Amino acid sequence: MSFTVAIDGPAAAGKGTISKAVAAHFGFAHLDTGLLYRAVGAKVLAGGDPIAVALALDPVDLENDDLRTAAVAQAASEVAVIPQVRAALAAFQRSFAARAGGAVLDGRDIGTVICPDANVKLFVTASPACRAERRYAELKAKGADVTLESVLADVKARDARDSSRAASPLVAADDAVLLDTSDLTIDDAIDQAIAIISAVKG
Ligand code: C5P
Repeated sequence: MSFTVAIDGPAAAGKGTISKAVAAHFGFAHLDTGLLYRAVGAKVLAGGDPIAVALALDPVDLENDDLRTAAVAQAASEVAVIPQVRAALAAFQRSFAARAGGAVLDGRDIGTVICPDANVKLFVTASPACRAERRYAELKAKGADVTLESVLADVKARDARDSSRAASPLVAADDAVLLDTSDLTIDDAIDQAIAIISAVKG
């Protein structure tokens, strides 16, 4: 039987960490849908055509170690405004969501467009300053040469592009439960997410 958990929210709100923990807790498969857009963005930076690349995307493309850079994140949010790119990536996401045994998908439009009938929808958010600090610490730990100001500017630019695009903008589904992680530890945020899902799943 399928059971789908949709977790949406802006960059660096904690949805990736929460999604992984939730998937591990319930024994569900997890798909970070941002990786699909990042994989397309990376290939476009290398000279590819966004729509052609999205149509030909292979799951092994998601295993590229270089998908986590700030440059690829920006490229991902640029290709993500193209409706044909989003359409090309939709079928893969929907079949992942329908797999037996349960699935957690995290992204921007899972609860609104990809899986409007998801069993549970969470919208995970946090203040821009909070998200920038977390992303800055993450990038610094990987040895990246960034400043907090540049990371905050990137976060705000991606928020603006993701929220204002015409195709599947970043917006909470009407029936999503809001989880603001600004003042929560990651463990508390995970516990809250698990409690929300358990209340539905039983
Ligand atoms: O989640 P992540 O930061 O890896 O996503 C990178 C970019 O991909 C986002 O800024 C957004 O523009 C795009 N994206 C999207 N829809 C999704 C997942 C990601 O538009 N479901």
